[in-house]
Amino acid sequence: MAGNWKMYKTAAETSAFLEKLRPMVAGVSHAEVVICPTFVNLPAAIDATRSTAIEVGAQNVFWLKEGAYTGEVSAPMLAAVGCRWVIIGHSERRQYFGETDESVFKKTVAALEAGLKPIVCVGERLEERESGTTETVLSTQFAGGIGGLAPEQFARIVIAYEPVWAIGTGKTATPEIAAAAHRFLRSEVRTRFGADAGAACRILYGGSVKPDNIKGLMAQPDIDGALVGGASLDPASFASIVNF
Ligand code: PGA
Repeated sequence: MAGNWKMYKTAAETSAFLEKLRPMVAGVSHAEVVICPTFVNLPAAIDATRSTAIEVGAQNVFWLKEGAYTGEVSAPMLAAVGCRWVIIGHSERRQYFGETDESVFKKTVAALEAGLKPIVCVGERLEERESGTTETVLSTQFAGGIGGLAPEQFARIVIAYEPVWAIGTGKTATPEIAAAAHRFLRSEVRTRFGADAGAACRILYGGSVKPDNIKGLMAQPDIDGALVGGASLDPASFASIVNF
Protein backbone atom coordinates (compact mmCIF):
# COMPACT_ATOMS: atom_id res chain seq x y z
CA MET A 1 0.00 0.00 0.00
CA ALA A 2 1.84 3.03 -1.24
CA GLY A 3 0.98 6.71 -0.90
CA ASN A 4 2.08 8.95 -3.74
CA TRP A 5 2.06 12.44 -2.29
CA LYS A 6 2.96 14.14 -5.58
CA MET A 7 3.88 17.81 -5.03
CA TYR A 8 2.18 18.21 -1.65
CA LYS A 9 3.32 18.85 1.94
CA THR A 10 6.28 20.61 3.56
CA ALA A 11 8.80 18.88 5.82
CA ALA A 12 6.86 19.94 8.92
CA GLU A 13 3.63 18.60 7.41
CA THR A 14 5.41 15.36 6.51
CA SER A 15 6.55 14.84 10.12
CA ALA A 16 3.11 15.71 11.50
CA PHE A 17 1.40 13.30 9.10
CA LEU A 18 3.70 10.41 10.03
CA GLU A 19 3.34 11.14 13.74
CA LYS A 20 -0.39 10.54 13.28
CA LEU A 21 -0.09 7.60 10.87
CA ARG A 22 2.39 5.58 12.95
CA PRO A 23 -0.05 4.29 15.61
CA MET A 24 -2.78 3.78 13.02
CA VAL A 25 -0.74 1.22 11.05
CA ALA A 26 1.43 -0.09 13.89
CA GLY A 27 -0.01 -3.63 13.85
CA VAL A 28 -0.14 -4.10 10.10
CA SER A 29 1.33 -7.34 8.85
CA HIS A 30 -0.78 -8.05 5.75
CA ALA A 31 0.83 -5.28 3.70
CA GLU A 32 3.95 -3.24 3.23
CA VAL A 33 3.25 0.44 3.88
CA VAL A 34 5.13 2.99 1.81
CA ILE A 35 4.96 6.78 1.72
CA CYS A 36 6.44 8.68 -1.23
CA PRO A 37 6.98 12.37 -0.46
CA THR A 38 8.88 14.89 -2.58
CA PHE A 39 12.69 14.62 -2.70
CA VAL A 40 13.26 17.42 -0.17
CA ASN A 41 10.98 15.75 2.38
CA LEU A 42 12.59 12.31 2.21
CA PRO A 43 14.88 12.97 5.24
CA ALA A 44 11.92 14.17 7.36
CA ALA A 45 9.92 11.09 6.35
CA ILE A 46 12.82 8.73 7.00
CA ASP A 47 13.43 10.29 10.44
CA ALA A 48 9.76 10.00 11.36
CA THR A 49 9.52 6.33 10.33
CA ARG A 50 12.70 5.02 11.97
CA SER A 51 12.01 1.71 13.81
CA THR A 52 8.53 1.47 12.31
CA ALA A 53 7.23 -0.76 9.52
CA ILE A 54 6.55 2.26 7.30
CA GLU A 55 9.02 2.57 4.43
CA VAL A 56 9.78 5.62 2.35
CA GLY A 57 9.97 5.99 -1.41
CA ALA A 58 10.82 8.71 -3.92
CA GLN A 59 8.61 9.73 -6.84
CA ASN A 60 11.31 9.82 -9.49
CA VAL A 61 15.01 9.14 -10.07
CA PHE A 62 17.62 9.78 -12.77
CA TRP A 63 19.41 6.84 -14.38
CA LEU A 64 23.02 7.98 -14.02
CA LYS A 65 24.94 7.87 -10.75
CA GLU A 66 26.29 11.42 -10.85
CA GLY A 67 27.38 14.12 -13.26
CA ALA A 68 26.44 17.47 -14.74
CA TYR A 69 22.65 16.96 -14.74
CA THR A 70 21.24 20.04 -13.03
CA GLY A 71 18.17 19.31 -10.97
CA GLU A 72 18.39 15.52 -11.08
CA VAL A 73 18.74 13.02 -8.20
CA SER A 74 20.42 9.63 -8.59
CA ALA A 75 19.46 6.22 -7.24
CA PRO A 76 22.57 5.88 -5.00
CA MET A 77 21.73 9.29 -3.50
CA LEU A 78 18.21 8.08 -2.69
CA ALA A 79 19.53 4.85 -1.19
CA ALA A 80 22.11 6.79 0.87
CA VAL A 81 19.43 8.93 2.48
CA GLY A 82 17.51 5.81 3.57
CA CYS A 83 14.94 5.68 0.81
CA ARG A 84 13.83 2.11 -0.03
CA TRP A 85 11.38 2.50 -2.92
CA VAL A 86 10.94 4.67 -6.00
CA ILE A 87 7.97 5.31 -8.27
CA ILE A 88 9.04 5.20 -11.92
CA GLY A 89 7.12 6.21 -15.05
CA HIS A 90 4.08 7.75 -13.36
CA SER A 91 1.67 9.02 -16.02
CA GLU A 92 2.18 12.61 -14.81
CA ARG A 93 5.88 12.24 -15.53
CA ARG A 94 5.11 10.72 -18.93
CA GLN A 95 2.60 13.50 -19.70
CA TYR A 96 4.39 16.62 -18.36
CA PHE A 97 8.08 15.70 -18.22
CA GLY A 98 8.72 13.63 -21.32
CA GLU A 99 9.14 10.26 -19.61
CA THR A 100 9.23 7.43 -22.16
CA ASP A 101 9.30 3.64 -21.96
CA GLU A 102 13.03 3.89 -22.66
CA SER A 103 13.66 6.26 -19.73
CA VAL A 104 11.46 4.06 -17.54
CA PHE A 105 13.66 1.09 -18.40
CA LYS A 106 16.91 2.96 -17.68
CA LYS A 107 15.59 4.36 -14.41
CA THR A 108 14.34 0.94 -13.31
CA VAL A 109 17.74 -0.65 -13.93
CA ALA A 110 19.50 2.19 -12.07
CA ALA A 111 17.12 1.91 -9.12
CA LEU A 112 17.66 -1.86 -8.88
CA GLU A 113 21.44 -1.44 -9.04
CA ALA A 114 21.21 0.88 -6.04
CA GLY A 115 19.08 -1.64 -4.14
CA LEU A 116 15.85 0.38 -4.42
CA LYS A 117 12.51 -1.30 -5.07
CA PRO A 118 10.90 0.25 -8.15
CA ILE A 119 7.14 0.73 -8.47
CA VAL A 120 6.82 0.93 -12.24
CA CYS A 121 3.63 2.57 -13.53
CA VAL A 122 1.74 1.72 -16.70
CA GLY A 123 -1.73 2.73 -17.83
CA GLU A 124 -3.83 3.84 -20.77
CA ARG A 125 -5.33 7.28 -21.46
CA LEU A 126 -9.06 7.82 -21.91
CA GLU A 127 -8.90 8.07 -25.70
CA GLU A 128 -6.90 4.84 -25.82
CA ARG A 129 -9.48 3.01 -23.70
CA GLU A 130 -12.31 4.44 -25.79
CA SER A 131 -10.66 3.43 -29.05
CA GLY A 132 -10.16 -0.12 -27.76
CA THR A 133 -6.35 -0.02 -27.63
CA THR A 134 -5.88 -0.48 -23.87
CA GLU A 135 -4.15 -3.86 -24.20
CA THR A 136 -1.89 -2.66 -27.01
CA VAL A 137 -0.84 0.34 -24.91
CA LEU A 138 -0.20 -1.80 -21.82
CA SER A 139 1.68 -4.34 -23.87
CA THR A 140 3.90 -1.64 -25.44
CA GLN A 141 4.59 0.02 -22.07
CA PHE A 142 5.36 -3.37 -20.53
CA ALA A 143 7.67 -4.48 -23.35
CA GLY A 144 9.53 -1.17 -23.58
CA GLY A 145 9.66 -0.31 -19.89
CA ILE A 146 10.23 -3.54 -17.97
CA GLY A 147 10.01 -6.45 -20.42
CA GLY A 148 13.73 -6.02 -21.11
CA LEU A 149 14.80 -6.64 -17.52
CA ALA A 150 16.63 -9.83 -16.61
CA PRO A 151 14.37 -12.27 -14.69
CA GLU A 152 16.23 -11.65 -11.41
CA GLN A 153 15.75 -7.91 -11.90
CA PHE A 154 12.08 -8.30 -12.73
CA ALA A 155 11.56 -10.31 -9.53
CA ARG A 156 12.40 -7.17 -7.51
CA ILE A 157 9.94 -4.74 -9.04
CA VAL A 158 6.30 -3.96 -8.36
CA ILE A 159 4.00 -2.93 -11.22
CA ALA A 160 1.32 -0.27 -10.75
CA TYR A 161 -1.59 -0.26 -13.18
CA GLU A 162 -2.92 3.29 -13.25
CA PRO A 163 -5.49 4.11 -15.92
CA VAL A 164 -4.81 7.79 -16.63
CA TRP A 165 -8.54 8.59 -16.85
CA ALA A 166 -8.98 7.46 -13.22
CA ILE A 167 -6.14 9.50 -11.70
CA GLY A 168 -7.31 12.43 -9.61
CA THR A 169 -10.66 12.42 -11.41
CA GLY A 170 -12.79 10.60 -8.84
CA LYS A 171 -13.53 8.04 -11.59
CA THR A 172 -12.14 4.79 -10.19
CA ALA A 173 -11.98 1.91 -12.57
CA THR A 174 -14.59 -0.58 -11.43
CA PRO A 175 -12.99 -3.59 -9.73
CA GLU A 176 -13.87 -5.61 -12.84
CA ILE A 177 -12.22 -3.16 -15.27
CA ALA A 178 -9.13 -2.93 -13.09
CA ALA A 179 -8.98 -6.70 -12.66
CA ALA A 180 -9.19 -7.28 -16.42
CA ALA A 181 -6.17 -5.00 -16.95
CA HIS A 182 -4.28 -6.70 -14.10
CA ARG A 183 -5.05 -10.12 -15.61
CA PHE A 184 -3.76 -8.91 -18.96
CA LEU A 185 -0.55 -7.53 -17.40
CA ARG A 186 -0.03 -10.76 -15.47
CA SER A 187 -0.36 -12.71 -18.71
CA GLU A 188 2.31 -10.46 -20.24
CA VAL A 189 4.55 -11.25 -17.25
CA ARG A 190 3.93 -14.99 -17.70
CA THR A 191 4.72 -14.85 -21.40
CA ARG A 192 7.94 -12.92 -20.89
CA PHE A 193 9.21 -14.23 -17.53
CA GLY A 194 7.36 -17.53 -16.98
CA ALA A 195 4.54 -18.88 -14.85
CA ASP A 196 6.29 -18.50 -11.48
CA ALA A 197 7.10 -14.85 -12.14
CA GLY A 198 3.49 -14.30 -13.23
CA ALA A 199 2.20 -15.73 -9.96
CA ALA A 200 4.75 -13.91 -7.78
CA CYS A 201 4.57 -10.48 -9.40
CA ARG A 202 2.73 -7.83 -7.40
CA ILE A 203 0.47 -5.50 -9.37
CA LEU A 204 -0.92 -2.44 -7.58
CA TYR A 205 -3.99 -0.56 -8.76
CA GLY A 206 -3.92 3.25 -8.77
CA GLY A 207 -6.48 5.87 -9.71
CA SER A 208 -8.95 7.46 -7.27
CA VAL A 209 -8.48 4.75 -4.63
CA LYS A 210 -10.46 5.79 -1.54
CA PRO A 211 -11.41 4.21 1.80
CA ASP A 212 -14.83 3.35 0.37
CA ASN A 213 -13.66 1.54 -2.78
CA ILE A 214 -10.52 -0.25 -1.59
CA LYS A 215 -12.34 -3.36 -0.36
CA GLY A 216 -13.95 -4.04 -3.73
CA LEU A 217 -10.64 -3.56 -5.54
CA MET A 218 -8.70 -5.77 -3.12
CA ALA A 219 -11.34 -8.51 -3.45
CA GLN A 220 -10.06 -9.09 -6.99
CA PRO A 221 -7.44 -11.84 -6.90
CA ASP A 222 -5.20 -10.11 -9.45
CA ILE A 223 -5.07 -6.83 -7.49
CA ASP A 224 -2.29 -7.03 -4.91
CA GLY A 225 -2.28 -3.52 -3.47
CA ALA A 226 -2.83 0.14 -4.23
CA LEU A 227 -0.90 3.23 -5.24
CA VAL A 228 -2.88 6.04 -3.65
CA GLY A 229 -2.63 9.73 -4.52
CA GLY A 230 -5.16 12.17 -3.06
CA ALA A 231 -6.48 9.82 -0.37
CA SER A 232 -2.96 9.25 0.99
CA LEU A 233 -2.59 12.89 2.06
CA ASP A 234 -4.73 12.44 5.17
CA PRO A 235 -3.49 9.97 7.81
CA ALA A 236 -6.92 8.58 8.75
CA SER A 237 -7.90 8.13 5.13
CA PHE A 238 -4.63 6.42 4.18
CA ALA A 239 -4.74 4.25 7.32
CA SER A 240 -8.23 3.08 6.51
CA ILE A 241 -7.05 2.10 3.02
CA VAL A 242 -4.07 0.21 4.48
CA ASN A 243 -6.35 -1.49 7.02
CA PHE A 244 -9.11 -2.25 4.51
P1 PGA B 1 -5.20 9.52 -7.17
O1 PGA B 1 -3.71 9.37 -7.76
O2 PGA B 1 -5.35 8.46 -6.12
O3 PGA B 1 -5.25 10.90 -6.61
O4 PGA B 1 -6.15 9.31 -8.32
C1 PGA B 1 -3.13 8.11 -7.95
C2 PGA B 1 -1.75 8.27 -8.55
O5 PGA B 1 -1.57 9.17 -9.39
O6 PGA B 1 -0.81 7.53 -8.20
